This record gives sequence, C-alpha cells and structure tokens, in this order.
Amino acid sequence: MCGIVGYIGSREAWPIVLNGLKRLEYRGYDSAGIAIINSAGFSVHKKAGKVACLEAETADKDKSGHVAIGHTRWATHGAPSDANSHPHSSNDNRLHIIHNGIIENYLILKEELLARGHTFKSETDTEVLIHLIEEIQNIEQTDLLEAVRLALNTVIGAYAIVILDRENPNQLVAARKGSPMVIGVGQDEYFIASDATPIIEYTKNVVYLQDNEIALIKHNQLLIKKLNNVVQTPLIQELELKLESLEKGGFEHFMMKEIFEQPRSIRDCMRGRIFPLEGKVELGGIKQYTDKLKNAERIIIIACGTSWHAGLTGEYLIEEYGRVKVEVEYASEFRYRNPIISDKDVVIAVSQSGETADTMAAIEIAKERGATILGICNVVGASIPRITDAGVYTHAGPEIGVASTKAFTAQVTVLTLIALFIAQHKKTLPPAKLIDLLTGLDAIPDKIQTLLQDNELIEQIASKIKNATNCLFLGRGFGFPIALEGALKLKEISYIHAEGYPAAEMKHGPIALIDEQMPVIFIATKNSSYEKVISNIQEVKARKGIVIAIVTQGDTKVKNMADHCIEIPDADEAFLPLLATIPLQLLAYHIAVKRGCNVDQPRNLAKSVTVE
Ligand code: M6R
Repeated sequence: MCGIVGYIGSREAWPIVLNGLKRLEYRGYDSAGIAIINSAGFSVHKKAGKVACLEAETADKDKSGHVAIGHTRWATHGAPSDANSHPHSSNDNRLHIIHNGIIENYLILKEELLARGHTFKSETDTEVLIHLIEEIQNIEQTDLLEAVRLALNTVIGAYAIVILDRENPNQLVAARKGSPMVIGVGQDEYFIASDATPIIEYTKNVVYLQDNEIALIKHNQLLIKKLNNVVQTPLIQELELKLESLEKGGFEHFMMKEIFEQPRSIRDCMRGRIFPLEGKVELGGIKQYTDKLKNAERIIIIACGTSWHAGLTGEYLIEEYGRVKVEVEYASEFRYRNPIISDKDVVIAVSQSGETADTMAAIEIAKERGATILGICNVVGASIPRITDAGVYTHAGPEIGVASTKAFTAQVTVLTLIALFIAQHKKTLPPAKLIDLLTGLDAIPDKIQTLLQDNELIEQIASKIKNATNCLFLGRGFGFPIALEGALKLKEISYIHAEGYPAAEMKHGPIALIDEQMPVIFIATKNSSYEKVISNIQEVKARKGIVIAIVTQGDTKVKNMADHCIEIPDADEAFLPLLATIPLQLLAYHIAVKRGCNVDQPRNLAKSVTVE
C-alpha cells in the first residue's frame, strides 16, 4: 500500500525521491506526489496515475533542492485523483505531509476543524491530520516536533508520516504507529522510506522507527522520542538486502524472475536447517519453544491471502506428521470474532511482508489471551517479527511482484520444516521415515529446476485458455490448498474469475458451471486421492469441460482423459504443494501476459496490506 520516501542532505533530493517512489511501486498505488524545497522556495507536484505520469508532468519544472518528501497513494478515503494525492498541506499551506495508514477518527476531527474555519481541498483523512497539527502548533506556540507529538496523542489509527515545513526547511519530522518506516543513515544525510528498497543504493545503515516513536531529522541530527516525550537512542542496524535483488535480472517481469528463482529460494530457506542423513531439523529461531510446540493443545495458524493458503498446507503437514491439532484462520475474521484461546495454544502468524494489518491485529489479540506467538515472515526487520515471541524467516529474498510466488513456496517449506521438527521432537514418525522425508525435501529444489523446463508447454496451454471468463481449480488432500492458490494467482493477475475447490465438492454446486467453455485445472498427481480425482475428471469430461491436469511424470491414465497435461516429477505426497504450485504460477503468468495485464502491479492490489 502507500509508499513514503523522504530525503534531507546535500544531494539533489528530487531524483532520490522519484527513484525511491519507483522502487516502492511494487507495493501497489494509484497516484503519486512530491514536495520539494527548491531554489524558488517550494513546490508540490501530485498526479493521479503512475510515477511515470508525475515524472512526465514535471519534466520541465525546476526540481533542484536538497529536502523533499514523496508518496505513492493507494486510495482509501476518496478516489484516486490529483486532489486526493499526497502531499497534503495545512490550511496556511506551510506544512506538508505524506502518510501511509488510516486516521480512524478523522471525521470527528474534520467536523471540529470545519467548525473552527478550516477548509479542505481533498477527501482524505491525511489532510485532516496536517490541519490538526497546524492548529495545535498555532495554539500551543510550539515547535513542529512537539505539535506533531501532541496531535498524534489525539488521533486513533495507523500511520507512518513525514512532514515538511516550508518555513523551516532544514528539518523533517517523521512518526510511526502500525505502518512501517525505515530511516537510512548516511554521511550528513538521512533517507526515509516505507521499506529499505529506496535506501539500499545509498546506505546500508538504517534505523527502524518503532511504533509510537517520533523523529526530528536534520541533515546532521536524528532525534527520536516516544510519544510520551521520552528520548530514545537510535539503534543503527546493517541491511542485508542486495541491490541486484531489486532488479529484473534479464526477465521481462519480476513475477517471472521470482518464479524462476524458486529452486534457489527454497534452498536458501532450508540452508542450515535440515540434516537429512541424521534425520534432523534445526530451527534456531524457535528452538526455545520446542516444548511449547510439541505439547501445544492446538496450533492456530493466522494469515491472509496466499499466506493463508500456505497456512492450510501447514495444517495438513503438521497434523499428518507432528500430530498436533491445527486450525487455520483468516486473520481478518479471527480478530473480530472473540476467539477462544489459552496459554496452551501456539499461534503461528504467516506473512510475507510482515506488515499485514489484519495479521498484526490478530497477533495482538492472541497475545493478550496468553498464547505463544511464532511468526513466519520473509521481510527481515518487518513489524511481525518484532511483535512475535520468536519465529522463522523464509529467506526467499525480496519479492517485488505483487502476486506472491517464491514467498509462498518458502512459507510452505518453513511449515514443512516445522511439521517435521515437531515430529522429530514428539517422535511421531519413525526415524527412517523422517530421514526419508528430509531426503525428499532436500531434492525438491532440483525437481523444481526440472519442471521449470515445462515453461514453453505451459505457455502454449495458456494460449488455448486465455480467453476464458471462468476457471475452476480442483484438488484433494495436499492438492486442495494448491487449487486455492492456483485460482487466486490466476484471478489476481489475469482478472479471470477463478475458484478453487476440494475436487469432491464440485458435485455440490460448481458442477453446474461446467460446459465446453470452462477450463478445469486438476491437481491429479499419483497420491492417495489419485483414483478419486480421476473420477472427478471423468465427471468434468462428461459435461464437456476443458481439463488441464497436473500429473506425475510418466502418467498415462489421466493423459488419456485430459485435454492438456503438465507433468511434475514424482515425490512424496507431502511435497506436492511445493511442486504442483509452480506450473500453476506459470499458467497464471502466461495467461495474464497474453491478456495484456500488468502482472507485476495488478490493478487495485497492494503488496503489503497495511490497512484493514
Ligand atoms: O504479506 P502477507 O503475506 O501478509 O500478505 C497477505 C496477502 O495480502 C497476500 O498473500 C496476497 O494475497 C497476495 N497478493 C497474493 O499473491
């Protein structure tokens, strides 16, 4: 969702902020804007549409200057328009703000401000906040830092904000609560951003601003305080991020690059954690919670979207191998339904970004009720790893495509490791079976490398079904979460309506949809439900549906029935989610490209969903 960038120092600020906004495009947005202190005094440029529109519109403008703030907006309050784009300004046009998050009590505040004579140019909650800050500064006759602090003590909601004062151009004021913010520390210069991607080309030294912290940033000074006015010592950390990982590396889209990275990302995720010959899994991050996990009365997995699908594979894996009862919950439902939780429960929160608002709120509820909270996260230093008791990073590397691919398989890998970790400590598997499974898991990256060679075949199949308006994805057992994930991938990037179902559920409703126009994608590999899935394929063929089947290498039975088959290497059933998901990612990708869709930044979607 919204991205924020700021710079103060001696370099030209405009290119730093503009390129920073481009780096943040992956988060999802629909308008962009920059405010800069320049030689002419000050200027604000903002525009609905992509950063490129802003760039084109400002091509012949004076953009020199050493202090600037920029923003990409994902619309919440008010349509994507020039007026609603950030930065927003105070009534007297002196203060300018960029904001990621939502001010929940903005309507009450706005009514009060209107009654006191303020006028507003936008429909946003953000504009209300900057008017409030202005008013407090005028009434209290205080400096900007203090005015922001006082104002934030009266607002309800989530925010990462940066404020620029045109009358006091040698400083920026920033604050965060519930939305991410990183401050890059250079030599007599500071960079501010929603995440480290705009900062990495300038410095590796960063300070992660914490919730309820407010910062005064000058080119040679960083002062951080809590909202209760207590001064904090900034903790400077070194980024592990590499600039190359933010480039397309010769691929046409980030999504394709990330699909092809999966042999490497899964290998990275397992590195130092599996010891097949010894039948051992080591998960340093959660080691101290081994007893909690193996004795848990229940494991509750909370997540959203693709991460929820990974969670569902986790349920199948942990119950099968670790023999602990598992429930998988949508974080957005969990947080509002008064869940029954005790200190015997272990909650595992799964999130690529580590910033998803619903997942964070669900964690807080489970925490209040005494559960142990573990996290599975991809972004190092994100909020979720900081609010959980312990966790496991997925180490998939930055995922820029909005549609999650390598992060999903890395989450499934971690959940597989957790299932086997519990099995090892609870002794729910014979040692030989554990060795077998770990050896099988170790071979998965190579198998994925092999099945990526099917890319061209999958592209051909994509050409045949690219004009479909609906698609069904069906699977059973370990194939069911993959059917859900395959359907989500297709709908989010190609805008084709797609649904995933347990294959046996088809006859309870979706079968009514099947005709000669309807592609039905089956996960039909040789596993415990193979024969049953074959019956379901026959039911679809009997109604003239177009069957595309993911089958085990060498399969002949399904091949005789299906219109198109994609083979995946043979492996233990437990690894089906890791293998079968790859062709579905490629299928969605090629269909979307053939339909002319923006696969890396699908319409309306955001990479990290920081509002509920
Ligand atoms: O960052 P998270 O894993 O918490 O994000 C959860 C979902 O928003 C995310 O998985 C979303 O469904 C993706 N667009 C899927 O490709």
